[in-house]
Amino acid sequence: MKLKKWDLVFIITGVIVVLILSIAPKQTTPRVPLDNIHSVLTDEKLCRNCHGQGTDRPLPPNHPNKERCLLCHKRKK
Ligand code: HEC
Ligand code: HEC
Repeated sequence: MKLKKWDLVFIITGVIVVLILSIAPKQTTPRVPLDNIHSVLTDEKLCRNCHGQGTDRPLPPNHPNKERCLLCHKRKK
């Protein structure tokens, strides 16, 4: 059986996608602590009260300034 041109294109695209996914950096985002402050929190709007600018635990200067905190910061297991 002979491979058709589009079969080859399909295979090569698949290999490239796998390569890109495998060189993606490891997840290093700090996890949300499981202490009595954070374990009861579900409302992401409250995070800023303690982690906004001028607080004790501000976001690092290079922090991606996004609203959906819990999308990136998973809870500790
Ligand atoms: C009542 C104040 C308060 C609120 C609200 C709060 N945090 Fe925190 N957060 C803290 C304090 C204090 C620490 C440091 C605790 C520690 O080191 O054990 C901390 C630590 C963290 C850390 C870990 C930082 C590190 O050094 O590893 C993350 C991530 C975090 N908070 C995310 C969040 C997110 C996301 C929310 C909203 C769902 C949130 N926090 C809401 C006070 C708060
Ligand atoms: C796009 C993903 C993303 C989102 C959304 C996000 N963060 Fe982060 N956050 C990170 C990464 C990555 C780091 C580590 C940055 C570094 O170490 O330079 C970090 C670091 C932190 C730290 C410091 C942890 C430490 O060890 O000092 C706190 C606190 C924090 N984030 C809280 C929040 C809060 C509160 C929100 C919502 C307003 C939020 N993050 C939204 C990715 C995100």
